[in-house]
Formats: sequence, structure tokens, C-alpha cells
Amino acid sequence: VNPIGRAAVVLALAAGALAPASRGGWAAAPDGRPVAPVAQDSTDAAGVGPTLLDAPVLAAGLRGAGVGALMAGTGLLALLAWLLPSGGDAPRRAAIRMLWAGVVVLVLHLLAWLCDAAGSWHLDPDAWTLLTATTAGRAEVARVGTAVVAAVLATWVSRPGAAAVAGLVALVASADIGHAAAIATAWSLPLKALHLWAGAVWLGGLLWLLLADPGRPGHHGGVLRVSAAALIAVLAVTASGLVTALLFLPSARDLLHSAYGGVALAKLAGVGVLVIFGAYHKFVLVPRAATDGAAKLRRSVRYEIGVMILVILLGGLLAYISPPDPGA
Ligand code: HEM
Repeated sequence: VNPIGRAAVVLALAAGALAPASRGGWAAAPDGRPVAPVAQDSTDAAGVGPTLLDAPVLAAGLRGAGVGALMAGTGLLALLAWLLPSGGDAPRRAAIRMLWAGVVVLVLHLLAWLCDAAGSWHLDPDAWTLLTATTAGRAEVARVGTAVVAAVLATWVSRPGAAAVAGLVALVASADIGHAAAIATAWSLPLKALHLWAGAVWLGGLLWLLLADPGRPGHHGGVLRVSAAALIAVLAVTASGLVTALLFLPSARDLLHSAYGGVALAKLAGVGVLVIFGAYHKFVLVPRAATDGAAKLRRSVRYEIGVMILVILLGGLLAYISPPDPGA
């Protein structure tokens, strides 16, 4: 299938994944309380457990970790299918493990979200109806469902391209959960999908650098391709993240004067650190790959992935923080 054909398949599947999450009106929670059609707003009214900046810590952490694992598995598989040599068995095995980890953590997130929306750790039969009665619930189910499809295809059908397409669709379903489902949707939805796709490519490339066998033919060419892909990804992630934040905030000043803006700026600072890592790799370690650079590159990539994980967890938190009201 040529690239245009692939893109058409991705878009068609994305449309299918989002169909069940079509926007509806407000639904009623088990106690009759109205539940907003997006995830984080439905947690505002009730909520259980500790909070940070008014966001439920458990749900936010699980959201970041689950989406991050899905991004890692999808990005790595997409690169293996379309851009990079296999690098041995390790990268593909890691991608499969990441996808299954994503499925498990996203299911846990769904449960945490349900508890928050129902306002109790005990889920009675009525609470489960939130999964079908609210747009946010249906979107959560669509995300978990498409993530399972990606993991199954990666594990049992030896076509990394098909699994990568399913993973990309799961990330589009992810983009449809949270503020992008409610605010400036026509722009914020595609921008957030681009944000998650570009982040997936970036993270997948780092994992390939860490796991691919440097002794295999084509390795150095692969390193150069990862470097080029990371440059495009950093531009796409930063631009889409900044514009999305500005769409959600009533004014640009709120970047400095709100919790939402503060966390967005912390992510931007994290990307700054990642860019410094990238430049050090490209200009210092990659040219020395044939001598002592390869081992140093792997060690440095480990630290870079650590920073990336922090930025991703901040993403999960951000998705649960309410931007200030326009009138406030
Ligand atoms: C390595 C770079 C980055 C990665 C891997 C990343 C990853 C993520 C993830 C995983 C989410 C959560 C998606 C969800 O659960 O719905 C997210 C959301 C978001 N990120 Fe990033 N991010 C990065 C950089 C940035 C930057 C530089 C900004 C801009 C300041 C930014 C702004 C946002 C915004 C506005 C959201 C949407 C939150 C919401 O729904 O309200 N991100 N990002």
C-alpha cells in the first residue's frame, strides 16, 4: 500500500473509531447529577482521592502513563514498518510489550475515571452505565478497544504496519478525550492528534536507538534517519502543543497566570531540555558512533527518555486541569 493509501486507511479507521463517541448532550450520573460530555469535566463535579492543582492524581497519572505507553509502542512499530531497519528482535518485542502495557494502564485509567465521575471508589451497577450513557465514557471505551486491536495485531499478526495503523487510530481516539472534545474542536482535535502522533514518532525513535543492535547492517543509516525524524517531530509536537494550549486558554496572558498555563510552560521547558539532548547526540555522539560514541549515545538516550516520561506525565495532568473560565 502506498503512503497515500495508508493515510486514507488511517483516516477511515479514525472516523470509525470516533463515530461511537459522537457528541451528545449532557447525561445524568447515577445520583441524578448532570455529567458533562468530556472526561475531566465530569470529574470536576464529584472526584475521589488526592488532587494536584484540582486534578485527580491517580487518574491523571494513569492517563499519562497509559497514553505514553501507547505512543511508545505505536511510534516504534510505525518506524519499524516504514522507516527503520529491524535492529534485531528487541525493538519489535519492546513495542509489543509497550502496547499491552498501554492497554492495561488505560483500562485502569478507565476505572479511575469512572470512580471519579461516580464520586465513589465503589462502582455500583448504575456507575457502569456512564460508559455507554456519556460521550466521555464511549470515547474511553473506543480508546481501549482500538489499543487492544493494535496490541493483538502486533502480537499475533506479523504485520507491524497494520498494528501501527491501529495504534495511530487509538491515538486519534485519545485526542478525542478531554478538552479537545469540548473546546474549539474543529482545530483542537486534529492538532492534538498530530501532537500525539509526533510524540509517538519521537519516543519510538529514542527507543529504537536504545534497543537496536548496533552490529547489524544499516544501523548507522537508521541512526541518521531517527535524527531527521526527531527534528520534524520536535517541531510538530511543540507547535501543536502550544497552539492547542492557546486555543484552550481564554487569553495568551493565562499561559503565565493560570495553573493550566503553568503546566503547559513546564512541558515546554521539558522540550527545551530534550532539544539540548538531541543536539548533543546529533553533533557530538553520532559522528563518533564508530568509536566510543555508540555506548555513550545509549546511556544519554536513557536520560532523554526519562525527561520524555516526565513531559508525558505532565500531559496527563494537563488534560485533567480545567483552563480558567473566559469570564474569570
Ligand atoms: C516531548 C514532547 C511532548 C510529549 C511527548 C507530549 C505528550 C502529551 C500527552 C501524552 C498528552 C496527554 C494526552 C491525553 O491524555 O489526552 C499531552 C497533552 C497536551 N500537551 Fe503535550 N507533549 C509534549 C510537549 C508539549 C508541549 C511543548 C506543549 C506546549 C506547551 C504541550 C501541550 C499539550 C497540551 C495543550 C495538551 C492537551 C491537554 C488537554 O487535553 O487539555 N505538550 N501531551
